[in-house]
Amino acid sequence: MRKLTYFIACSLDGFIGDPAGDATDMFRFVDEEFLAFLMERYPETVSTPGRRALGLDHLENVRFDTVVQGRGSYDEGLKEGITSPYAHLRQYVASRSLAESPDPDVALIRDDVVGTVRALKAEEGGLDIYLCGGSQLAGELFDEIDELVIKSYPVVYGTGMPMFGSGSAVTDFALDEIRAFKNGAVVRTYSRKR
Ligand SMILES: NC(=O)c1ccc[n+]([C@@H]2O[C@H](COP(=O)([O-])OP(=O)(O)OC[C@H]3O[C@@H](n4cnc5c(N)ncnc54)[C@H](OP(=O)(O)O)[C@@H]3O)[C@@H](O)[C@H]2O)c1
Repeated sequence: MRKLTYFIACSLDGFIGDPAGDATDMFRFVDEEFLAFLMERYPETVSTPGRRALGLDHLENVRFDTVVQGRGSYDEGLKEGITSPYAHLRQYVASRSLAESPDPDVALIRDDVVGTVRALKAEEGGLDIYLCGGSQLAGELFDEIDELVIKSYPVVYGTGMPMFGSGSAVTDFALDEIRAFKNGAVVRTYSRKR
């Protein structure tokens, strides 16, 4: 069974962005040490334009071969003209409002997002599935999430977009790994207790 992993950046108080979801302020914590970690463990989570800018296009996928995101998150790239933000992955975008996909490499999930993700998880072989966000889609897929990789940055937002917009219930996860960085960022990996 392929895992669905919610790999997400958040503030110390658990927000994935400001109230509108803007997370660009968090990019400043991706310094040399943190980037080296991403390159080694999760190079595929860096977007196509990011990989190109950093000269990382040649890196092979390590953990994920598929990305699932909501239209709200996809819009962040789309408004900059980026129609295929993770060209090195198989890409799915959940949307009921988009009439057609803006890019032949991006498949739309119009209905039954849970069923589609279950089918992806049941595929034989391959790497795991990167749940990119955002808040609303992560809430709707909460029961399907097998693993959390939480990149906590040393900043309190006070208010903002929660990690799960809806759908989550009190649920135990087990800590698998914790990694601290000199700049105060901490990456914690948890598995859902089933
Ligand atoms: N901190 C981080 O690491 C991180 C990562 C990713 C995103 N973000 C932030 O998160 C924000 C976006 O989050 P969000 O919660 O507003 O939006 P989102 O979850 O990315 O997308 C919500 C949209 O997904 C579609 N959708 C959701 N459930 C669906 C279902 N069951 N079936 C079909 N379509 C479905 C709908 O699109 P339609 O309206 O088209 O129907 C809905 O409006 C962005 O501002 C981004 O910056 C932060």
